[in-house]
Amino acid sequence: MTSNEIKAGLNTKILGKEVIFYTETTSTNDIALDLASKGADEGTLVVADSQTMGRGRGDRKWFAPAGTSILASLILRPSIELSQINKIVAITAISIVYAIRDMTNLPALVKWPNDVVINNKKVAGILAEAKTEKNSVSYVVVGFGINVNVPKASFPEEIVDIAISLSIESGYEISRIHLLQEILRQIESRYLKLDDDSFLDEWKSLSATIGRQVQIEYADSIKTGIALDIDENGALIINLNTGDTQRIMNDDIVRVKIK
Ligand code: BTN
Repeated sequence: MTSNEIKAGLNTKILGKEVIFYTETTSTNDIALDLASKGADEGTLVVADSQTMGRGRGDRKWFAPAGTSILASLILRPSIELSQINKIVAITAISIVYAIRDMTNLPALVKWPNDVVINNKKVAGILAEAKTEKNSVSYVVVGFGINVNVPKASFPEEIVDIAISLSIESGYEISRIHLLQEILRQIESRYLKLDDDSFLDEWKSLSATIGRQVQIEYADSIKTGIALDIDENGALIINLNTGDTQRIMNDDIVRVKIK
């Protein structure tokens, strides 16, 4: 993969106009955060074939054997408040789902808040990190890791039962460049109409979580219930087994498990 191959035929207005590619780096999110703090243009994309310090949410490591995955981070400068950052995660997840469906026909869905799953196994994760001033966002780095051509045998034992790659599910290798290009096109079309909230219906219709029995893990407790809906701020609404209704946001919780 090279930056020129990623840019060739991309046909986007903003996203991927600048592409910085590394054979190996620490974490594409860290590189993009540093570039954004130094004034890099909106749409700048950092991509790597491998990461030595790939990060997931909650300080977890992101596993990806070299050359098998999409490891990418986009710099965005949206006019939104911090409370709306879920929108960026949502349009990214929706775009990854549609791009996967277009290229493979696999039944990808969004597991709230920021995972893409196929048959309940995780195929992609999103890590959005923002710099804010007062309450508004100066920039967001939205990083995504997608298990594209990861062989089953290389998944570590602790994730082999909960993770999957596109090549395992489809039985053939997928072009990382074409998939990444399609994701960028899809994100851009939703990003350019971020104000109109049309992504919300898409997010709900692609949800692996709504209607399912879920377990919500907080740092010090666990609750269970049925996921009912996602509200306009991206919060998940849950009908707890106690009979109460609970609204949870991305950063309130450690993990949501679908049971
Ligand atoms: C998660 O599921 O917890 C989020 C995973 C995000 C991983 C991607 S890989 C590219 C970018 N760089 C990182 O260090 N993390 C994100």
